[in-house]
Amino acid sequence: MPDRKLTNEMLERMVDTNDEWIVKRTGIRERRIAQNTATWELALEAGKRALTDAGLDAAALDLIIVGTATPDFFTPSVSCIVQGKLGAEKAMAFDLSAACSGFVYCVDVADSFIRAGKAKNILVICAETLSRIIDYTDRSTCVIFGDGAAAAVFQASDADDGVLTTYMRANGTLGECLKAPILPEEDPLAPGPRAVCDHRFLKMAGSDVFRFTATAVPEAIDAVLHQANMTADQIDWFVLHQANVRILHMITTRYGLNPDKVYVNIDRYGNTSGVSVALCLDEMRKAGKLQPGQHIVICGFGGGLTYGAALIRI
Ligand code: UT7
Repeated sequence: MPDRKLTNEMLERMVDTNDEWIVKRTGIRERRIAQNTATWELALEAGKRALTDAGLDAAALDLIIVGTATPDFFTPSVSCIVQGKLGAEKAMAFDLSAACSGFVYCVDVADSFIRAGKAKNILVICAETLSRIIDYTDRSTCVIFGDGAAAAVFQASDADDGVLTTYMRANGTLGECLKAPILPEEDPLAPGPRAVCDHRFLKMAGSDVFRFTATAVPEAIDAVLHQANMTADQIDWFVLHQANVRILHMITTRYGLNPDKVYVNIDRYGNTSGVSVALCLDEMRKAGKLQPGQHIVICGFGGGLTYGAALIRI
């Protein structure tokens, strides 16, 4: 995570907001900002650390997937920049655009490549520099989002653990609810050269997205539980996209969970889009919270709108 913190107190001096509103409505106390840092730089650092941690040489990678909604260029992709810098000579590389569902979508794609026998070693990275597309005069979004990166290595294995089942969906009819345009919105199909849009800022109809999560998140969680023939009380951890602590509370109540089973770190990082689930897993593992044999449900939801869940045994 970038070192630079943006606290609620700092935001109080920038827009008409206050710590009490932000904490009560979102659960966020501070977020990180990657000043003068490209998405690929965050991604590369996270990728290097994951490889070191896994004891894997970059030369052994078959595939690098970067989940991001804030790539540095149309092309080259963030994943190709990372592939080149890592010297992962035999790896295929592509970016995956699923915004806040980024990591969960990446997990499904990595699992599919491995199951199809097309890859043995995969590096999944999620990286965002959302601060580049946030309007810091818009209080409805600038208090929510933060920057960061997280990565994981996926390897083929004969063991009966790993990704047990997944459920991935999209609802593109609601795409306008969370939008960050790249090209002018007025007439995108007009002939001739296109001006680069001055208004690249992310806009979110927060309460509409909140309403969507109320059905989409339980739908995805119910689906993976059903597919694995398991019940919520058999799950050790629920690791959801950190969009709003109220969504996490909603899930705790709906499934009658012990709140300690629903991991929360939104207070320290805000909403980091596709990074959040991987960031939680990294923190949990380093804190010794993850033990072999445990079952984890991960769930992502957001821009697209996209949503999905996966059930993992570690
Ligand atoms: O990560 C991708 C997926 N994203 C999500 O899942 C986000 C889901 N949505 C949310 O988390 C919430 O909708 C938000 C946290 C974004 C907003 O919370 P809300 O409870 O839905 O607030 P609201 O947008 O309905 O606004 C309520 C009031 C409004 O004032 P009035 O019209 O009632 O007078 C807003 O102008 O709160 C006001 N408001 C603020 N006040 C102080 C909005 N932002 C702020 C702010 N500080 N930062």
